Amino acid sequence: MEARIPIIVGNWKLNKTIAEALALVTELKNQLASLRRVDIGVAPVFTAIHPVVKRLDGTNIGVAGQDCYWQDRGAYTGEVAASMLADAGCRYAIIGHSERRQLFGETDENVGKKTRAALDAGLTPIVCIGETEAERDSGETFNRIDAQLAGALDSIEPHEVDRVVLAYEPVWAIGTGRTASPAQAQEVHEHIRGQLRQRFDHVADSVRIQYGGSVKPANAENLMRQPDIDGGLIGGASLAAADFVAIVKAAHLAMGS
Ligand code: PGA
Repeated sequence: MEARIPIIVGNWKLNKTIAEALALVTELKNQLASLRRVDIGVAPVFTAIHPVVKRLDGTNIGVAGQDCYWQDRGAYTGEVAASMLADAGCRYAIIGHSERRQLFGETDENVGKKTRAALDAGLTPIVCIGETEAERDSGETFNRIDAQLAGALDSIEPHEVDRVVLAYEPVWAIGTGRTASPAQAQEVHEHIRGQLRQRFDHVADSVRIQYGGSVKPANAENLMRQPDIDGGLIGGASLAAADFVAIVKAAHLAMGS
């Protein structure tokens, strides 16, 4: 089997004006231009997507939407279609982030529809799943993960599954500084791959599963060395070029050895 190419994506959340976004990606472009065999992405706010796409044109860094809608057009005030992200030059769409689930009522069913729409638009969906602290404490982690996975994957055909990226993000580790230990993360990643194998057989081995939740330069390499961790979805540490570059390089190093 071909080794899975790691994928590191910076989720900027509600941060950075267009000018700030351009300054950051110009730094990334200068520092990461020569890296191969690692996929790199940034997810700006919607208003900065197009200028960032233009600035990154011809580089090895792709652009992601932080969400998308499943309808292509119509009376859906405030939404942005997956096909419109593709039209703006995006390569990826983050779907089902825990902040969308917790603050904006995203359901497992909607995550499935958005995943389908992203694939239809030619985007790579980055589907986020993960348990809350209460679910972990009550032994519900795997049940929650399985329900979220089912929501996302029910609408996908076996031949498409390797176009999907999954991001395991334990909610208790997001923005808290409390990272899952490499062993804790690997345990869940292995479980996720087992679930994929039950549904999709050997294709499961080609699906990339990112870890997200307080990834920093200091802990990135040990996380990325785990056999079923294939990159990271990076929040806070993606807002400063030096930290994000260090994390991308750590993933590159960990995968290459
Ligand atoms: P964090 O966020 O790295 O700031 O914990 C990760 C995420 O929300 O994707």
